[in-house]
Amino acid sequence: MLVLGIESSCDETGLALYDSDLGLLTQALHSQVALHADYGGVVPELASRDHVRKITPLTHRVLSDAGKTLEDLDAIAYTAGPGLMGALLVGASFAKSLAWSLNIPALGIHHMEAHLLAPLINRGSNDLGLPFVALLVSGGHTQLVHVRGLGDYDILGESVDDAAGEAFDKTAKLLGLGYPGGPKIAAEAERGNAKRFRFPRPMTDRPGLNFSFSGLKTYALNTVQSLAPLTQQDIADVSSAFEIAAVDTLVIKCRRAIEQTGAKQLIIAGGVSANQRLRAELEEKLAAEVVYAPLDLCTDNGAMIAYAGALRLQTGARENLSIHTRPRWPMTELTPI
Ligand code: KG4
Ligand code: ZN
Repeated sequence: MLVLGIESSCDETGLALYDSDLGLLTQALHSQVALHADYGGVVPELASRDHVRKITPLTHRVLSDAGKTLEDLDAIAYTAGPGLMGALLVGASFAKSLAWSLNIPALGIHHMEAHLLAPLINRGSNDLGLPFVALLVSGGHTQLVHVRGLGDYDILGESVDDAAGEAFDKTAKLLGLGYPGGPKIAAEAERGNAKRFRFPRPMTDRPGLNFSFSGLKTYALNTVQSLAPLTQQDIADVSSAFEIAAVDTLVIKCRRAIEQTGAKQLIIAGGVSANQRLRAELEEKLAAEVVYAPLDLCTDNGAMIAYAGALRLQTGARENLSIHTRPRWPMTELTPI
């Protein structure tokens, strides 16, 4: 089954072709980071318009890179939510119209389910290692999920305020490092003095698997204000303290989740799972196999949508022609298959 995957939930237009026998064939991505840079965040209307501009040429590109034509497609998977309403609508309308014209099914995919499955893309559909625990860490989500089956999710814990990626982004902004903040903080942290500051590990002193990252960001703000004006060394040292504390907090909760569930596998997914320190610490400190995606499949992309779509479509999942997007969509409301 050849599936075209379309991601357009936020500020990346991602297209990909996944073949259920051969795996990922091609993918193409356009990032809008430069478009939104002057505004300090994603401007929804600009995002939608840019998706409109890029979605058709990127579709042609993935098809020609794979030596395929539209007629070779068996199905189309698109991100139906959660995300920005206008941005989602671009992908959904494009997918539904194209599928209708080709007389093939189009299926709406949950963006976070796709992130969660991305690290398993090379395993096809036979050996997902179920049940397992997943840490979903992106710009909008921080969740620990017990995955019993595809679509059968139990949220073990989540952030009560900022998402982990959001805390990286806001701290980077305080330090004048720009967006997205995660990779910039990680790069600064490499030349920082890890011993100069000790930042708190929020909510680790009590039982439970919820997270809170806004206090960590406020701690960073207070530190920055006490140091102003910042030197290059201050920026590196604050980056290092922040990264160590954020990673430590995530590792402590993951260890608890593995102990609590007895799971043998931890999947880490979403943009923050690209963080090298997080990967290394989890591998060192967890009594479970740690699985993560290649770097280009950690952040938003079309491949994860195509793969999640193929897994669901193979079990017969279908939907009608209406264009239905869900900007807010709890993962626990997904249909188990
Ligand atoms: O999954 P994603 O691409 O988009 C959302 O669905 O949110 O995640 C983006 C987030 C941003 O907050 C970005 O700063 C963070 O992932 N990120 C990182 C790293 N690379 C991206 N955070 C920490 N370390 C990284 N290396
Ligand atoms: Zn994402």
